[in-house]
Amino acid sequence: MPKTWFEWHDLYNTDPKLQQRLQIVREYMDNSLDVSPPGIIRVVSVCAGDGRDLLGTLASHPRTKDVYGRLVELNPELAERGKAAVESAGLSKQLEFVNGDATNSSSYIGVVPADIIIVCGIFGNLASEAELKRLIGNLPVLAKKGSFAIWTRGHSDGIAHSETVRKVFREAEFEEVSFKLTQTGDMGVGIHRYSGEGLPLSQNQQLFEFSGVPDKYNSLSVAK
Ligand SMILES: C[S@@+](CC[C@H](N)C(=O)[O-])C[C@H]1O[C@@H](n2cnc3c(N)ncnc32)[C@H](O)[C@@H]1O
Repeated sequence: MPKTWFEWHDLYNTDPKLQQRLQIVREYMDNSLDVSPPGIIRVVSVCAGDGRDLLGTLASHPRTKDVYGRLVELNPELAERGKAAVESAGLSKQLEFVNGDATNSSSYIGVVPADIIIVCGIFGNLASEAELKRLIGNLPVLAKKGSFAIWTRGHSDGIAHSETVRKVFREAEFEEVSFKLTQTGDMGVGIHRYSGEGLPLSQNQQLFEFSGVPDKYNSLSVAK
């Protein structure tokens, strides 16, 4: 069992569910860049880990030169690894990898509204459906009409938690663009498009509470 979120990322080397999820997230990222209008494409990644989803996509996408944004991650080792990856990809003028609190609205000052918001590996780390509603209800402070949100949600104990996520997005002015389950059948990945007008970003607003811990993750049955 991983003791830290840094160790948790090693599961990407062995866990088919995480590997398949990453592949779908990158595919959605790729599609959203493909359909972005000419000009700058702003991206924010909330609880970014080491940024492998975004950076993996940008490694080969023709719109990479247009992508600007911020990745926010609390774990210092992951942020360090992410920064190094941004530098070695030659993207440090475009992407900021911030070691900070992604639950605090101030972390996004200067980079929103974003065209693409990555919220992967978060929904399974919220305490309740009410907290999920709070987070999705607050995404409009990062968004504008037409913004994409790319997300993941694992299933556990036979409960298809991703269905709840789809419902909450629907109720919050987000239209589903695509949804897929991993081949393992127990991890949902979705991309939704915001149809509202966005909300103003205020300082120091708590957008959600991340309450999950890495050692609860079980690659066989409990998915984040
Ligand atoms: C399940 S991992 C997902 C990482 C990445 N998004 C991915 O899908 O590979 C959750 C991440 O959230 C980070 N995290 C937890 N609380 C956070 C906070 N308040 N602000 C920023 N990151 C946070 C953890 O350190 C961890 O890297």
